[in-house]
Amino acid sequence: MARVYNFSAGPAVLPEEVLKEAADEMLDYQGSGQSVMEMSHRSKVYDNIIKEAEADLRELMNIPDNYKVLFLQGGASQFFAEVPMNLMKNKKAAYIITGQWAKKAYKEAQIYGEAVAVASSEDKTFSYIPDCSDLDIPEDADYVYICENNTIYGTKFKTLPNTKGHLLVSDVSSCFLSEPIDVTKYGVVYGGVQKNIGPAGVVIAIIREDLITDDVLPGTPTMLKWKTQADADSLYNTPPCYNIYICGKVFKWIKKMGGLSAMKEHNEKKAKILYDFLDESRLFKGTVVKEDRSLMNVPFVTGDKELDAKFVEEATKAGFVNLKGHRTVGGMRASIYNAMPIEGVEKLVEFMKKFEKENTK
Ligand SMILES: Cc1ncc(COP(=O)(O)O)c(C=O)c1O
Repeated sequence: MARVYNFSAGPAVLPEEVLKEAADEMLDYQGSGQSVMEMSHRSKVYDNIIKEAEADLRELMNIPDNYKVLFLQGGASQFFAEVPMNLMKNKKAAYIITGQWAKKAYKEAQIYGEAVAVASSEDKTFSYIPDCSDLDIPEDADYVYICENNTIYGTKFKTLPNTKGHLLVSDVSSCFLSEPIDVTKYGVVYGGVQKNIGPAGVVIAIIREDLITDDVLPGTPTMLKWKTQADADSLYNTPPCYNIYICGKVFKWIKKMGGLSAMKEHNEKKAKILYDFLDESRLFKGTVVKEDRSLMNVPFVTGDKELDAKFVEEATKAGFVNLKGHRTVGGMRASIYNAMPIEGVEKLVEFMKKFEKENTK
């Protein structure tokens, strides 16, 4: 078996242990005589799977009782619409534009009301996080929206914005479970699971209970109303059963690794190896201001498009795959999510050093 080092931004590397366990249980899940793919979502066996997944997530993130955990479909992109549909009572919201995903969410919100861009880092190709300590947030804004880790550009909010008493909604798709967070600081925390948690097809949303009401925008489809999903414990209709089962296994894996503080330490160690090399390299350089660097997504360039392409090609041959930068920005990007082992980053840096030697005078 030849496994590669997979630096994909998502869908992304999963813990090998989890994949092996799932393989072992493929034909017969714990004596049920069925695969989890085949069983009814209304069965007792499956009910235990989804309940245990939720309980483990609650424990990992220390989620207070007054927050609901929902397992939803439609990807993070559908959630861009669900946020205004469920929260825009005054038809106004403030958006902080730190990359393409935040911008897409902002554009989606404009369909439903007045979305106001209160800060942006687009002037410098989203290479930094704007100062959000004293923003001009409209009094009657229903919420302030951020994308906490910008997958494409490799920036991360190190401190949350001062929302001046407004509700904070955060897309944590690419930093989910990478470090501890204080859930009470948010109204809604959500993300697609396909980076740090599991197979594409599930969005996990952690929503403060008082925000889950029947008072949604007219025309909101039943399925997109959080109350529908919350009242049915995410089983209003058939959920992505198998994917949730894998998420549950990843939660257990993270618990075994020591929880979110241990995960943070592991991620900081990995990111440091790569950033330290980028800072001293004569060929490669990072594209993000130091203080806003993401622990998860590390974009870098050589400054020469042809050399970038050569690097990606040679790296792929050497077993380091999916290092090509996002199609809109070029260069390279190494996504080093929870499941990327330290030796994956060490070996990548070794390979980069060799490439540098061969391609500089
Ligand atoms: C931060 C962030 N938000 C949203 C999305 C969109 O996710 P989805 O493809 O699940 O709609 C992505 C996808 O990569 C992302 O990185």
